[in-house]
Amino acid sequence: MSAIWEAGEPVEPDGERLVAAEFTEDDLEIDRSLRPKRLVDYLGQSRVKDNLAVLIEAARGRDESLDHILLSGPPGLGKTTLAQVIGNELGVNVRTTSGPAIERAGDLAAILTNLEARDVLFIDEIHRLNRVVDEVLYPAMEDFALDIVIGKGPGARSLRLDLPRFTLVGATTRTGLLTGPLRDRFGMAFRLDYYSPDELASIVTRSAAILDVEIDAEGAAEIARRSRGTPRLANRLLKRVRDYAQVRADGRIDEDVSAEALSFFEVDHIGLDPMDLAILDTLVHKFSGRPVGLNTLAAAVGEDPETLEDVYEPYLLQLGLLNRTPKGRQATARAYEHLGEPVPAALAGPSQEGLF
Ligand SMILES: Nc1ncnc2c1ncn2[C@@H]1O[C@H](COP(=O)(O)OP(=O)(O)OP(=O)(O)O)[C@@H](O)[C@H]1O
Ligand SMILES: [Mg+2]
Repeated sequence: MSAIWEAGEPVEPDGERLVAAEFTEDDLEIDRSLRPKRLVDYLGQSRVKDNLAVLIEAARGRDESLDHILLSGPPGLGKTTLAQVIGNELGVNVRTTSGPAIERAGDLAAILTNLEARDVLFIDEIHRLNRVVDEVLYPAMEDFALDIVIGKGPGARSLRLDLPRFTLVGATTRTGLLTGPLRDRFGMAFRLDYYSPDELASIVTRSAAILDVEIDAEGAAEIARRSRGTPRLANRLLKRVRDYAQVRADGRIDEDVSAEALSFFEVDHIGLDPMDLAILDTLVHKFSGRPVGLNTLAAAVGEDPETLEDVYEPYLLQLGLLNRTPKGRQATARAYEHLGEPVPAALAGPSQEGLF
């Protein structure tokens, strides 16, 4: 750990953590009620949808199971939703589990033997499966077979059980952590991208209709702009703005009410929350613009490194506010500008200017 950080106190951002907030029961309820069920209601991600539509139609036409599919991308972009949608479009059951939930080979064997032909098995956080479980999964994915060892020592025999032809849909926020052999066993891999403001505005409008909230196009656009490309956050912000509109206005959401409400909840005009600002502030002030290692940065802002890397960093990188250098994370010229600080000469070179 660096001496610089040890000398100081962690910068704990105050204010509510809307971006990486833990799920409450309320959030889960909202997620469930707003979750699209069919491909037509799944807005955005048109490349992924077009591909899937063809694959699904072909599989249905041949009365076969769909190829195994890997979905990757940052949290809240719709991986779980899409797995459900795939199951609905195929007209089959979706069994849901997650990497950390499958501890022993037997746990997976139990799940696999309970599947029906063409069912979807959804494994969330598939990068967190352990090695023993992987060994069972490989032949299941490849040959639809389960190898069971009976007995111990020299007398042990191996038995092969046939499984129904199922479709595995795996989701991960980290493709990099997937082992090569596992990745290779997926027929298709799709990476979900951040949504455009227009796509998010459509999602907000759809959600508002379901929640019976009155919102105009500009009000939806304002929420969309501050939702950092993420439908889950767009829905969460919509709910906050609805509360605000009900208490401080007449319940209707227009651009002014949206902007006021989101500033009130400390989401700035480009969607940064107090934690993002604490990260930038720490890089700029505490470390004077020097590159900082992930763990040191996480400790300095009082967040765990994984959340920092999965939730905060991708958006800051995308906005060009943060750089990942071999020596660590570094604030960019744009970050200084966003904080209203003079840009250090080293960052203000001509190569940077054209970018903004
Ligand atoms: N394409 C979409 N169209 C409309 N709403 C969407 C879309 N994608 C996601 N949502 C909304 O966002 C919420 C979060 O999506 P979901 O839970 O599928 O994300 P995720 O990628 O599985 O996140 P995590 O990595 O945290 O598990 C859903 O409940 C749904 O309401
Ligand atoms: Mg999910």
